[in-house]
Amino acid sequence: MAKIIFATGNEHKMTEIREILAGLKAEILSMKDAGITADIVEDGSTFEENAVIKAKAVAKEVDAIVLADDSGLEIDYLNKEPGVYSARYMGEDTSYEIKNQALLDRLKGVPKEKRTARFVCAIAAVFPHGEVIVKRGTIEGYIGDKPAGKNGFGYDPIFYVEEFQCSTAELTMEQKNALSHRGNALRAMKGDLEKRI
Ligand code: IMP
Repeated sequence: MAKIIFATGNEHKMTEIREILAGLKAEILSMKDAGITADIVEDGSTFEENAVIKAKAVAKEVDAIVLADDSGLEIDYLNKEPGVYSARYMGEDTSYEIKNQALLDRLKGVPKEKRTARFVCAIAAVFPHGEVIVKRGTIEGYIGDKPAGKNGFGYDPIFYVEEFQCSTAELTMEQKNALSHRGNALRAMKGDLEKRI
């Protein structure tokens, strides 16, 4: 059976990935499952570049298909900040309570129609023969006036979706996966994987 290794240590992402890629004739492993550790410097200037950097770094270590993602939040009013710096915004160790409040403060008084934002996810696949495929998925929304909800992670409490009129931290995992940026990128990738396994 083919092996797909997803270059992440994040169990939350692994659950989502296993759910979406279910049905593929492949064993889906995290780096931990595969016993791989890699110290990767994400120094690309786009989500796509970073996803490829991560996937290639792990692919050097194994004879398997390697997937990697890079994601973040783009706020239009803030010139698409925090973008590729989403995890590093205000420092990796700063809590999301503080990061989210800082972004709300920067948007103080800005009307709803100018608070548009999106989560972006690029997924790269590197195949053992060297082929590289990259897909992008997004979810459009807006930054609310205050944080809400306890589900999800990161910027979810301030990111609102029109369809549900609530933040993505108020959605169930199933609801979020069905429309998320990562879900959309993975679904776009699934067909390409099917053809190559
Ligand atoms: P990475 O893709 O693991 O490097 O993470 C990017 C960063 O973007 C995360 O640490 C979060 O700050 C943010 N982010 C990405 N996806 C989501 C999401 O679905 N909800 C909330 N924040 C997210």
